[in-house]
Amino acid sequence: MRPARPGEWRAFALIAIAAAWLLGAANPATQAQALQNSGKAPPIPQAGPLAQPKPLDQVGLPVEATRAATPADNPQTPAKIALGEKLFFDARLSADGTVACATCHDPARAFTDGSPVSVGIRGRVGQRNSPTILNALYNVAQFWDGRAKTLEDQAELPIVNPSEMGQPNLEAAVTAVAAIPEYQQAFKDVFGKPANRTDLARAIASYERCQILFDSPFATRARSAMPPSAAGSSSIAKPAATNVTR
Ligand code: HEC
Repeated sequence: MRPARPGEWRAFALIAIAAAWLLGAANPATQAQALQNSGKAPPIPQAGPLAQPKPLDQVGLPVEATRAATPADNPQTPAKIALGEKLFFDARLSADGTVACATCHDPARAFTDGSPVSVGIRGRVGQRNSPTILNALYNVAQFWDGRAKTLEDQAELPIVNPSEMGQPNLEAAVTAVAAIPEYQQAFKDVFGKPANRTDLARAIASYERCQILFDSPFATRARSAMPPSAAGSSSIAKPAATNVTR
């Protein structure tokens, strides 16, 4: 092989630097580090079509388990779910108005943040990876260590976590929400009283309970490829209409 000429070395070096830069920029760990250095929270995702509550007539949806996962004191209603969705995307729940639940549970990333560890308020880096909230209603307990029993219990904790939403206490988040006329009306309509911590967590949990996903392209295809008799008896058969209210 002939030795490279000086001009060619320069071209190789430039390509190597560009490749290293591109790999680094696309690396979630590097992005988390960059956010930490900047002292800023990641941008808040928008509530697009992927954030919509999912239909209950999905192929393979476990009807009984879905019903059992809804507590008697927090029944699903469309208005409550809509309020929960607003809250889930609202950074006003955080201490400085920069972090929403959706920051780390982004619908476009299957309700995760795609990062090894989450980055919250003021670029603070947590110690754990953000799990999806898709199908979280079926979890026997919430968090990697199961320290919250229900979605309602869970919803309060990120609000006061210093490296997530950073509020000094839940009342601070309630006060921020209660100051907004649209929320005043919504809490009155849905719960019949002003915003309070219990109902705030209930609304968010209700929204999360709509994030059910079973209708994968695979399940749909497998079902359509089956003879009707097999499809009817399979666990990926279409369920009968459910009585879970929405
Ligand atoms: C800064 C990032 C961040 C924010 C903001 C955040 N979360 Fe999380 N979330 C996480 C991480 C990280 C975990 C896992 C922590 C653990 O297990 O200790 C988690 C866990 C969860 C879980 C448990 C899921 C499971 O499979 O165990 C739910 C549900 C959840 N978050 C909902 C919410 C809600 C609701 C909000 C807003 C009130 C919120 N999160 C705000 C990062 C975040």
